[in-house]
Amino acid sequence: MTVVLRTLEELHNWKNAQASQKIALVPTMGNLHAGHLALVKEAQRHAEAVIVSIFVNPTQFGANEDLDRYPRTFEADLEACENAQVDAIFAPSVEVMYPEGLKITHHAEESLANRLCGASRQGHFDGVVTVVHRLFSVVEPQFAVFGQKDAQQVAVIKALIESEAFPIKLVVHPMVRDSDGLALSSRNQYLQTPEERQTALALFETMQGLAVAFHTLNQAPTAPPLNLQKAFELSWKALQPMYPLGQELQWDYVEAVDDETFEPQAFLTSNSRLLVAARLGALRLIDTLHVQELLDEAKERA
Ligand code: PAF
Repeated sequence: MTVVLRTLEELHNWKNAQASQKIALVPTMGNLHAGHLALVKEAQRHAEAVIVSIFVNPTQFGANEDLDRYPRTFEADLEACENAQVDAIFAPSVEVMYPEGLKITHHAEESLANRLCGASRQGHFDGVVTVVHRLFSVVEPQFAVFGQKDAQQVAVIKALIESEAFPIKLVVHPMVRDSDGLALSSRNQYLQTPEERQTALALFETMQGLAVAFHTLNQAPTAPPLNLQKAFELSWKALQPMYPLGQELQWDYVEAVDDETFEPQAFLTSNSRLLVAARLGALRLIDTLHVQELLDEAKERA
């Protein structure tokens, strides 16, 4: 049975009852889907006791973002956690998480905070760091499991653990995709029509195209180096007509970073991670892939 903990006292008693068992935390904002349940499974591989936090964190939403519309589906989430044999859900109120009001108490590392998603979502990562800092401090897990889908968030949390010396092992679970390749995410659930879904796939397919193009170029070392932005512009021009709502897809960024250091790269290397974000109507979509992993998978399938 999954126990539901709402106060710090309930959390404290639950932690004491775990005696010397290791605890893994899976932080979420609820509305659980198969991607979250994959994180739970990963957590269960690392620790005897798994706790899922469900808290829609107001400080990570911008003024014109969807805080009020964010789906709150506690009953379904509880059922999903019971089926997945989660030991506990920590579902605190705003007052429990922010006893001194909705203030930012911790900041994301400067070199990460305002790039990529941070550039169009000012203050977002400060909100994430503030709430995750609080979760880490009150839950005190030995492991914390995050999804690779939010690659920048992973980099921000890694920096937080290092800078605060939290004795927590960060576990990053690979992206979970639907059978058509679309990333499983709360936002992607808002895609309603087949055209919207097909167009959202353009993010993944464009990254795949770029990775393959760079790989092919690397095989021909005499070819002139191809800048990532230029390659994207050329390929999107050719690809756009293939997507039903291609004209309406507003690219926010298409970037590559070193997967280890998160340093921006103009040219891909074997350790590159591609990161993309685009708007489709009111929806903001993100996706990511590791270039070498994609090429290795393709080789295995061949
Ligand atoms: O990834 C999320 O769902 C949120 O950003 C997190 C980590 C639970 C913090 O609110």
